[in-house]
Amino acid sequence: MEFISNSPEETIEIATRIGKKLKGGEIVAYRGGLGAGKTTFTRGLAQGFGVGDVVTSPTFALVNEYRKKDKCLCHFDMYRISNEDDLETTGFFDYMDGQTVLAIEWSENITGALPEETIFVDIERIDENRRKITVRGMDPEEMID
Ligand SMILES: Nc1ncnc2c1ncn2[C@@H]1O[C@H](COP(=O)(O)OP(=O)(O)O)[C@@H](O)[C@H]1O
Ligand SMILES: [Mg+2]
Repeated sequence: MEFISNSPEETIEIATRIGKKLKGGEIVAYRGGLGAGKTTFTRGLAQGFGVGDVVTSPTFALVNEYRKKDKCLCHFDMYRISNEDDLETTGFFDYMDGQTVLAIEWSENITGALPEETIFVDIERIDENRRKITVRGMDPEEMID
């Protein structure tokens, strides 16, 4: 499934639609460099999933947790993660509980730890304001209202 986004707002809108389809327990793995729009996308994802819309980069915390009622979304930054021990300290394995949604920036660094059912979100910068967003691993019928 491919989308072209022409602005951060459009990226949030696309991500919100996808977030609405999440049931809980999904692993959403981003691929795309600095400034691609991973954090922006997560803002929409969290909004659509229903855990709020104030999402900031987890760069220093490594993981930010967003909860509302029984829903939880964890937003990871794996930029500095290079081995399994590092990964374990983020709580990654504990959060894989079948209910928590994991949204993972720099998932390129933890490819070996990603389950087969992972939803990949590739964000490519076309120019300053345009992005090509490709979503894999999610049933297209399930994705759009
Ligand atoms: N279409 C777009 N989608 C998402 N971000 C965009 C877009 N166009 C421009 N931007 C800008 O790109 C930057 C993306 O930042 P961010 O979401 O933090 O990226 P990342 O988490 O991938 O490093 C922001 O400054 C945002 O305003
Ligand atoms: Mg980011």
